[in-house]
Amino acid sequence: MNIEAVQSAQRLIQVTDPHIGGRPDYQLLGLDTGHTLNEVLSAVSGEAASSDLLVVTGDVSANGSEASYRRFLHKMQPVTTPWYWLPGNHDNAQKMDELAPRRRPEVVALGNWRLLLLDTSVPGQISGGLSAEEIDRIRELLRDNREHPLMLMMHHQPVPVGSHWIDGHMLKQGRDEFIELVTGAENVRAISWGHVHQQFDSHLGQIGLHATPSTSVQFTPGSGPFAVDSEMPGYRWFDLRDDGSYDTGVERVAIAEYSVDLASSGY
Ligand SMILES: [Fe+2]
Repeated sequence: MNIEAVQSAQRLIQVTDPHIGGRPDYQLLGLDTGHTLNEVLSAVSGEAASSDLLVVTGDVSANGSEASYRRFLHKMQPVTTPWYWLPGNHDNAQKMDELAPRRRPEVVALGNWRLLLLDTSVPGQISGGLSAEEIDRIRELLRDNREHPLMLMMHHQPVPVGSHWIDGHMLKQGRDEFIELVTGAENVRAISWGHVHQQFDSHLGQIGLHATPSTSVQFTPGSGPFAVDSEMPGYRWFDLRDDGSYDTGVERVAIAEYSVDLASSGY
C-alpha cells in the first residue's frame, strides 16, 4: 500500500499599518483608512474558517490616541480568529496595553511554531530601534524556544527594501546585533514586518524576509523620494508547517471607493 502523509498547516494572517484616526472622518493623504481597514478585514474574514491567528504589525493608529485604538478595537470585534498586535512608530505602546492588556504577548504558539512579537518602536522617533536590554531579551527568547521553528514579527524593516526614503527610517539601533542573533539561530525561519507599506520578499541565508502591504496607503517600491502607489491595500497569509517549512503570499483587496492623493510629497 502506498500511503502519503499529508501535513496540515497553520494559517497566520498578517495585517499591518491601518493608520486609524480617532474620528470617523479621519483621512491619510485623502484616504479613508477606516473604510479600507473594514474592506481588508471583511476579505480576511472570508477566510476566517481557515485562519488560525492574526497579527497586526504596528501603526495601528495614525496618532497614538485613545480614541483611535477604541475605534480600531471596535472594528476588530467581528474578527473571530485570535489576534494580537505590536506597536509601530505612530503608536503609543502604553496606551495599547492599557486598552487591551492581553493583546501583546512576547511569544505566541501556533502549532509547532513560535512567533516572537517584537517592539521596535522608539518614542518620538520614526525609525526603529532595539535597546541592549531588548537584544538580551531576544537572545533569551531564541534560546528558550530553540526546539521550535520561529517567526519574528515586528514593525520596522531590519534590512533595506529598496525604497530609499523609507529605508532611511528602518531598524537602526541594535540592528547589527539583531542580524547577528537571528542568523546565528538555526531555527529562525522567517521575519515579517510592516512600516514600508509595500510587498517585499527576500532571504537572509535560510531566513525568509517579508514585508506586507498596508491596509491603507501604499508606498511605491523602489522609489527614491516619498511616493504614493496606486496599488490596492492588502494583507499577507502564511501557511506554517510543523517541520518549519512554510508558504506565504499577499492578497490585494479591490476597494471600489478608493481615493488617495498620489501627488503627495510626504506623510
Ligand atoms: Fe505605517
